[in-house]
Amino acid sequence: MTTERDPSKLRSHRWFAPDDMRSFGHRSRLKAMGFDDVDYQNRPVIGILNTWSELNTCHSHFKQRADDVRRGILQAGGFPVEIPVMSLGEMLMKPTTMLYRNLLAMEVEEVLRCHPIDAAVLMGGCDKTVPAMLMGAISADIPSIFLPAGPMLKAKWKDVTLGSGSDVWKYWDERVAGNLCDSDWKGIENCIGRSAGTCMTMGTASTMACATEAMGFSLPGAANVPSVVAEHARLGTQTGRRAVDMAWEELKPSTFLTSESIDNALMTSFAIGGSTNAIVHLIAIAGRLGIELTLDRFDALSRITPVLADIRPGGRFLMEDFFDAGGLRAMLARMTDLLNTECKTVTGKTLGEQIEGSEVIDNEVIRTRENPVDPAGGTCLLKGNLAPNGCVIKSIAADPNLLQHRGPAVVFNDYPEMKAKIHDPEINVTAESVLIMRSA
Ligand code: FES
Repeated sequence: MTTERDPSKLRSHRWFAPDDMRSFGHRSRLKAMGFDDVDYQNRPVIGILNTWSELNTCHSHFKQRADDVRRGILQAGGFPVEIPVMSLGEMLMKPTTMLYRNLLAMEVEEVLRCHPIDAAVLMGGCDKTVPAMLMGAISADIPSIFLPAGPMLKAKWKDVTLGSGSDVWKYWDERVAGNLCDSDWKGIENCIGRSAGTCMTMGTASTMACATEAMGFSLPGAANVPSVVAEHARLGTQTGRRAVDMAWEELKPSTFLTSESIDNALMTSFAIGGSTNAIVHLIAIAGRLGIELTLDRFDALSRITPVLADIRPGGRFLMEDFFDAGGLRAMLARMTDLLNTECKTVTGKTLGEQIEGSEVIDNEVIRTRENPVDPAGGTCLLKGNLAPNGCVIKSIAADPNLLQHRGPAVVFNDYPEMKAKIHDPEINVTAESVLIMRSA
């Protein structure tokens, strides 16, 4: 897309161009950091919003990756400024990062609004960082492009392929049952986190990365590039270059996101067998666009969407396999009849144009429409006396025996009580019992 490049239309122009005392101050303080007029004048200022932290293992490569983004911004004639924002690392924050999602959303929104920023690269990945950054950017309505952290590499322990974020539950049960010795337990601990990057199962992080790309908020193919491979560094540079063009084009979230884009994100999350947490986040993201997303809408779209990605925990493979099999674009190319392919994206192109010609390399990992993991309804809406307003279940990840079940209820008042009592041999529980927690 060619656009007239008129610096006077840039948002940052208000800070740096006027011949007045305030602008004098803005310019002189940039010079105090070693920048010359030529570094920033008549160039879009691109904020690199970086959620790097030494307490967020999923983003531990972001220090380097921000430099890759910076390189792309400079190549395209922009002025890069890196801005740290709150890092929500799922593994080391208590009691839960969910308490902080909206805080990060507010921070992103206000950081964008109050600074001389013409466009932003949003660097996130670990679960809540994705919706938080999108929510903030949508509310600020400043041109923004998301760079996902990418999944970590596949993990191996002995001859077992481990999936982070889900296998730990399985092996902890073995440990509690006395079936895993100290050295095996330590071996799993040493192996299950193979590299920087997000969990390499189809957990919330990868689900939201896929939903973000399908929504049009990141470059085509961005969602699944493993965090530490060379392609990810190149993706960072490409994202930086694109942010500069978005600034000139004034391609704000409000100019390309619609309720159809949200529907695309939803159907994508169903087709990948994604995390049910995505539903909570997509409702919040849609809310920032003024779109009310109901559970009935989820239900309607889930009923027509087949599950095509055979990825753990609902399937057999891991995110690296998904990437090698062609990734999200190849999967979306198999469901263009369901998607709104005319929706615009951060590239200025339509979703349909972005996925056109993408090929599946491995039909075991990305199934054909004739041989899906589940023909439809892999995520179901449930209503009943336990959840009168509705709740969701990822039925493809559930043992079929659980889909129809009667058994005595064992009720805990809250999580601490459940944690304290769950392994108590005195507790009256059998394989038929249904465990219920009154409050989270
Ligand atoms: Fe960060 Fe799983 S802990 S994505």
